[in-house]
Amino acid sequence: MPLSDMRAVLTAHRAVGAFNFVQLELAEAIVAGAERAGAGVVLQLSENAVRFHGGVAPAAAAALRLAEASTAPIVVHLDHATDVELVEEAIALGLPSVMYDGAHLDDAENVARTASVVARAHEHGVWVEAELGEVGGKGGAHTPGVRTDVDDAAAFVAATGVDALAVAVGSSHAMTSREASLDEGLIARLAERVPVPLVLHGSSGVPDSGIDRAIVAGMRKINIGTHLNVVFTAAVREALAADSAVVDPRTYVRPAREAVAAEVARLAGLISHGAAG
Ligand code: G3H
Ligand code: ZN
Repeated sequence: MPLSDMRAVLTAHRAVGAFNFVQLELAEAIVAGAERAGAGVVLQLSENAVRFHGGVAPAAAAALRLAEASTAPIVVHLDHATDVELVEEAIALGLPSVMYDGAHLDDAENVARTASVVARAHEHGVWVEAELGEVGGKGGAHTPGVRTDVDDAAAFVAATGVDALAVAVGSSHAMTSREASLDEGLIARLAERVPVPLVLHGSSGVPDSGIDRAIVAGMRKINIGTHLNVVFTAAVREALAADSAVVDPRTYVRPAREAVAAEVARLAGLISHGAAG
């Protein structure tokens, strides 16, 4: 299938699951999960994952080729880029979507830099997600106590021209248990006032029921990373425990890839089609 873009997958589904990958097998699992769910997904590569691979190109090129070969609509997205150079690199490689994360900056600087990234990206038809304040767990907006102010969010979108906005509503990055509780009233107020799709970061810590209610309240993109790592690593541990003499990585990576594909299929179905599937 030709590469998909964010506007198309958001239009086609009630919300879209956005899944982070670190290595090739996780990307393969996410694409397989999307195909099984019959749903479009976002296949996203964070700045941290880019640093791990020593550049955007190796992992982004793999993701783009997987997306093109898939029967599901897949949007390849650069996630949490704080470095404008990485955004430029992603645009040059043909990624249709980027997140510029200026949440660590003071508000005026965040507005100025985000607006400049948006202008540059839009010259190439690239979708830009941004963040106001920080979303806990990385020391900022997606921390449990942090909340996005509705008026600030509306003003930020108007001043920057961003296509989507990550907001802080009670989730926190890198949770390994699914017990976060979201402020659904705030999500509804944000959805009413902010004229672009809202993005929930740190969704690994949110249970299925909370994800469903967040979507009903107005969330459109649901970012999930850590939870897939938890599923992958648990399956690796199980496979290694079953055979202590194993040396071929395929022996433990194959069941881990399958476990993640099954979980992505389940989550993508919930997110895109609703709990009833
Ligand atoms: O941008 C990516 C996400 O916000 C993922 O967060 O690893 O806590 O699910 P998570
Ligand atoms: Zn995030």
